[in-house]
This record gives sequence, structure tokens and C-alpha cells, in this order.
Amino acid sequence: MKIGVLTGGGDCPGLNAVIRAVVRKALLLGHECIGIKEGWRGLLEKNFVKLDLDSVSGILHRGGTILGTSRTNVYKVENGEKIVKENIKEANIDCICAIGGEDTLGVAAKLFKAGVNIVGVPKTIDNDLNATDYTFGFDTAVNIATEAIDRLHTTAESHNRVIVVEVMGRHAGWIAVHAGMAGGADIILVPEKPVNLEEVCDILTKRHSRGKSFSIVVVSEGVKLQTEEQTDKDGSFVLSSMQKDAFGHVRLGGVGNILAEEIEKRTGFETRATVLGHIQRGGSPTAFDRVLATRFGVFAVELIEKRRFGYMAALRGNEIVEASLDDAVGKLKTLDLRLYDVAATFFG
Ligand code: F6P
Repeated sequence: MKIGVLTGGGDCPGLNAVIRAVVRKALLLGHECIGIKEGWRGLLEKNFVKLDLDSVSGILHRGGTILGTSRTNVYKVENGEKIVKENIKEANIDCICAIGGEDTLGVAAKLFKAGVNIVGVPKTIDNDLNATDYTFGFDTAVNIATEAIDRLHTTAESHNRVIVVEVMGRHAGWIAVHAGMAGGADIILVPEKPVNLEEVCDILTKRHSRGKSFSIVVVSEGVKLQTEEQTDKDGSFVLSSMQKDAFGHVRLGGVGNILAEEIEKRTGFETRATVLGHIQRGGSPTAFDRVLATRFGVFAVELIEKRRFGYMAALRGNEIVEASLDDAVGKLKTLDLRLYDVAATFFG
């Protein structure tokens, strides 16, 4: 079979490890691979690249994606589905391995229903994709954020400051809770829990009144805030831009700065904010993510061998299993609140 491989959505450490695993396993079984550049855009624009043993050599440890990526949505392009199907036929592609998160795999699920042979591999640093315990990239992001929190601890302590650390997580607080727990954060704020600024300041004041002169607050970028300026009943997102992408997502960022201002105003503690942003998505994947990405890639080819189209590789416990694309994109996997409760034991 001729397998088209694409990576879509935000990049993520481990993408190259998946591409390498798919190509190596496919070639071993006598298949042929072709790279589709920049996600679904490459399929719309017939932008293909050779994928052989040489092209995937030396990429296991490299961040980013050798195929490039985009947030192109086939279903937002006029006749997108028709164009994609024609281009697949013209390029003699028998099936596609789509490596992506909720948006990329959402398109994959629709194309599968339209008759395209597709399997998926679950990717996102946010870890909010349903039907898999973990996505690759998440562990790397958590490690980067944890190291940042460790570093911020020493400077916060030296200056008697509160430091607010903003981490990624558009809809889910997985990165915030994992990195916050690992880094010993004094408060963690996540999209799944309404933020009460008075409560936050109360926790900090109590902590400082027992002799602590510094605090670390970890906040997900997707937290909704209710402040004097943002008076929506449920609070509102803090946006770094009003622009929306092709999947309708607004660009988040900046909640940490607003929170820091509010904390300083309400408590009198000198407060600073650090936004980790795309640093969490860049660079080499951790060993855990390299192994997970490799297992996912090999399994995806096994799905293709069995013609289990419409499915993706998923992690359940320590096993790689199949999960339907519909299950994966049907709903978001938000934070397990029992985990949040464990983290909350250490607040203050
Ligand atoms: O891919 C997930 C994610 O990293 C989110 O955590 C974040 O909100 C978003 O992507 C940022 O997207 P962009 O790459 O468009 O800045």
C-alpha cells in the first residue's frame, strides 16, 4: 500500500518519532510512504515529499516535524473534501496516517465517513484528546514546565515575591496540575474549576502569615477570570489576539499577567508573571514521549495492515490499543478532578 503521512495542528515533541516509526515499520512490511506537507493543506495543494529510510534517519530526538504543520481545515475550504479525494486518487495514495489532535483527527473522522482510508495517531501537549490515557508531547511539556517552576522558585524566594506561571492548556488543566504538583506549586488554577480571586488571595495571605515570604501560582492559559474589566458571570478568557483559526479557536494568552496584577493589588505582595508559551512545545521529546510516539507509529501501521480504518492508536494503562476516531473527537478529555484534589492538599 502507499501510505500518506501528515502532521496537523500545533506542533509537539515526538512528531518526528512517530513519522520515523510509521515509515520504518511500513517499509519493513513492504509498503511505500509519502509525506504530505503541512497537514491537510498539503493534501489540498498536492504538496508531497518523498519518505524513505534516509528521510527519517536521525530525527527520533528532534522536536517539531519534518513534514511541517498547519491548522488548515478541509471543511472550511470550498469543495475541500472533493479536492482532497481527487488528489488522493491522483497521487495513488491508498491510505492516510493522520498524526494530530482533536482538530486534525476531527477532519480525519469526517473524511473516513466520506470513504477515505484513514488511521490516526493522537498528538497534543494538552493531553485533552479523548479515548487515550496520554498523548505524546504531554510528558515533554510537563517536564519543561516543571523545570521552569523549579527555576522560578529560587528567584521568587530570593526576592520575596509571588510568581505566577502561565502554562498551556486551552480547555484542560492537565499540564498545570502535573507540572504544578511536580514543581510544588502553592496554588494551581485550571479551566475545569472556577477561579475565585478572593480565595486565591486568601490562600496566599495565610501562607505568608505562617512565615513564607514567596509563593508560586500555576495557571492554565484557558482559565476564565472575573475581574473588574472582565465581568462576565462565568468569567472570560484572556486573549492575546481576537483572531480565530480555521477551527474557530481564539488565541489565548495573558491570563498570568492579569492574575499577577490582581494578586499584587489585593494582597500587597510583590508579584510577577512568567508566560511559558511555545517553549513548552519546542525542542527534544523526553524518553517517555519518544517511546510512546514510537509505539503509536508502529501500531498505526498495524492498523493499516488489518485495514482497521477509522481507528487510531491509543494508550490504555500500559497497552497500546485501538480507539475509534469518533470516540477520540466526540468530547474533550478534561482533567480528572480527583487528581486536582490531590494537588490541592498542598495549596497554601
Ligand atoms: O496545540 C495545543 C496548543 O499548544 C494549546 O495549548 C495552545 O492554546 C495552542 O496550541 C496555541 O496555538 P498556536 O500554535 O496557534 O499558538
